[in-house]
Amino acid sequence: MLNLHAPTTERWLTQVSANLDELLIDHAHCEKKAAGVAMNLLFAYVDEVELVRAMSAIVQEELNHFHLVLDLLERRGIRFRKIPASKYAGRLHALANKQEPMRAVDRLLIASLIEARSCERFGLLRDHLADRELADFFGSLFESEARHHSTYVRLAKLFASEERVASRLEELALEEARIIEPGEDLPRVHS
Ligand SMILES: [Fe+2]
Ligand SMILES: [Fe+2]
Repeated sequence: MLNLHAPTTERWLTQVSANLDELLIDHAHCEKKAAGVAMNLLFAYVDEVELVRAMSAIVQEELNHFHLVLDLLERRGIRFRKIPASKYAGRLHALANKQEPMRAVDRLLIASLIEARSCERFGLLRDHLADRELADFFGSLFESEARHHSTYVRLAKLFASEERVASRLEELALEEARIIEPGEDLPRVHS
């Protein structure tokens, strides 16, 4: 369903479970960035009404998620602040074609894969965290991130044939797996 090529390993779960405060700060940044990505797509492809409507809905949902994480941070006495991001999203965005219409397809499919990976990892946190408040919180986001994944894949078909979108998704999913598999030193949603 999520089109991911490599499942997240125990390594990541162990890494973030030992650094939950930092994971939560990064998570807040991720939700903010997800809203930004959707807003950028809305601006870039404003002639596609279906896309514009879907993006404005996602912007609102992601900002709502952002607020929920900020509330959680505040309840736990964790200060929201700037922290170094993981390299994951930047490395994926760098794979986007420079020329339209394939640039649109790539931007949408890259967004779809980031949503899929977040969704997969929220599911792991839901199932494995001993902190039940956090486990339930991540579980509550699972469904909307899965839906965002499907929305982005569907919208990519506004710019290329179904077959072209499917084959490009396959290529990008392989790249995504290659990027995320080695892991990163800092505990992050996408480390
Ligand atoms: Fe979100
Ligand atoms: Fe999302």
